[in-house]
Amino acid sequence: MTGAAGTGIGVLLHKPRLYDFFVELALLGRAPSFREQLLALARLQRGEAVLDIGCGTGSLALRAKAASGASGVVCGVDASAEMIAWARQKAERAGAEVDFQRASAQALPFPDCRFDLVLSTLMLHHLPKKARARHAAEARRVMRPGGRMLLVDFAEGSPRKGLRRHLQHRHGNVALPEILALLAGAGLDIVASGAVSLKSVHYALATRPAVS
Ligand SMILES: C[S@@+](CC[C@H](N)C(=O)[O-])C[C@H]1O[C@@H](n2cnc3c(N)ncnc32)[C@H](O)[C@@H]1O
Repeated sequence: MTGAAGTGIGVLLHKPRLYDFFVELALLGRAPSFREQLLALARLQRGEAVLDIGCGTGSLALRAKAASGASGVVCGVDASAEMIAWARQKAERAGAEVDFQRASAQALPFPDCRFDLVLSTLMLHHLPKKARARHAAEARRVMRPGGRMLLVDFAEGSPRKGLRRHLQHRHGNVALPEILALLAGAGLDIVASGAVSLKSVHYALATRPAVS
């Protein structure tokens, strides 16, 4: 797997500690509540099976594990070996059972209909445009009928300076209509969409039709 922009895989991140540092700094102590908000938007229930695609350093997956409880199953995948190694260390330190695997969003190593909830946060803009439909199709494949997908990304017109701008760096953003079209194109029904508490970030929640 390569990290170069323009390749089929996408833009990978290789500096997990720096990533965590910037996220904490950019969100000025609000990172935990931001993650709580994402899980609330995803309507996560105790006992659910959750997959976090492009999980980075695993913070959201670890939070999802805490929220889904002992009977919940949480997996996280990222194509970057460094992000996965760091996420595993965090899980070990936290004593949390989360299965972190190195894998591409376009070829998920899971059987059909495995998960109740699929998360894809701040990852879509890392994928080449041509790969995005494949990512959405893979997400749909691993969702059980009636399952949900939460897709979150930076909005257009995001901050032009400051740390959040630095986090967005050159990879850009994905407009909400594009996200909605992508999910609908994969055969998912849109349930809700809009801005999250950080005004520069938006989300869409979609469900896989129970009969399809
Ligand atoms: C900005 S980070 C977001 C991490 C995390 N989801 C979050 O919300 O903090 C994007 C992540 O997507 C990963 N990534 C990029 N292309 C990928 C692909 N094709 N498959 C899986 N992960 C990918 C990068 O390595 C990086 O860790």
